[in-house]
Amino acid sequence: MVNQVLLYEVKDKIAHITMNRPEKLNALNGELSDALREAWERFEKDPDTLVAILSGAGQSFCAGADITPGATNPEVPYQVHQSYPQNGITVFKPIISAVHGYVLGSGYALGIRGSDLTIAAESALIGFPEPKAGIAMQPIDYLPYMPFKISLEFMMLAWNGGQIMNAQRAYEVGLVNKVVPDPELMSEAIRWAEMLKEIPPLYIRSVKYGHYRGNTLGFLAQEREYINFVYPQVISEDVREGRRAFQEKRKPHFKGR
Ligand code: COA
Repeated sequence: MVNQVLLYEVKDKIAHITMNRPEKLNALNGELSDALREAWERFEKDPDTLVAILSGAGQSFCAGADITPGATNPEVPYQVHQSYPQNGITVFKPIISAVHGYVLGSGYALGIRGSDLTIAAESALIGFPEPKAGIAMQPIDYLPYMPFKISLEFMMLAWNGGQIMNAQRAYEVGLVNKVVPDPELMSEAIRWAEMLKEIPPLYIRSVKYGHYRGNTLGFLAQEREYINFVYPQVISEDVREGRRAFQEKRKPHFKGR
């Protein structure tokens, strides 16, 4: 456990990170934001974890930044934004979000933009209500990794028009990977985590590196960087173990090195 407002529990190499301000729909105040930032650092360093599942306690995943006056520390710039996992920049282990109920503003930034995979319960309602309250948003909060056409719809209607989309629509446009009935949300997230656990960790690291960093680089720079980053995986023990296991007709035991 990192803090009361955030639960951190490791089970079978899966870090279950649960936002725990259900009475405020897990709105991100300063305390929860700081606890999340620490949790991502802990998850990335922890040798006992391979995958994280982020979820929210109570009726909703997260209703966005806590907009109550004084909820964040004005002396900490971008305190809420620092709760995002910096996925593919500092966190290279896979992150799955299991979202339900309201997934708004910073909830979207955590559960969809900041996660590699998102499992949505049918109850999920996803959007950016900020413009309705006159709060300006930066495209970087919602654009990255969205196909161009979809991003136009989002910029004009779903986001800046303040329209909330349901889980099924989010699935149709590719924002979430699976929609399940609410009672099945966590078991489905764990099922995906178990699939990811079978993949050599170094392979996941290089895929994440290429995917997230590659999106921000030109092609040549991307190829150069990718080769440098992938090379340690090419000569890793895990690659040799994979070949040995194939030859010996057994399941490989990957060690992440
Ligand atoms: N910041 C602070 N508190 C929030 C919050 C937020 N973003 N979202 C919800 N809460 C609080 C409510 O104030 C309420 O607290 P209270 O019981 O002490 O009054 C509690 O969470 C439950 O929310 P409530 O509004 O009663 O639930 P609802 O089902 O009627 O409405 C929402 C849910 C999400 C539509 C509504 O709470 C809302 O519009 N929240 C703001 C969403 C937003 O603008 N997010 C982006 C922030 S940048």
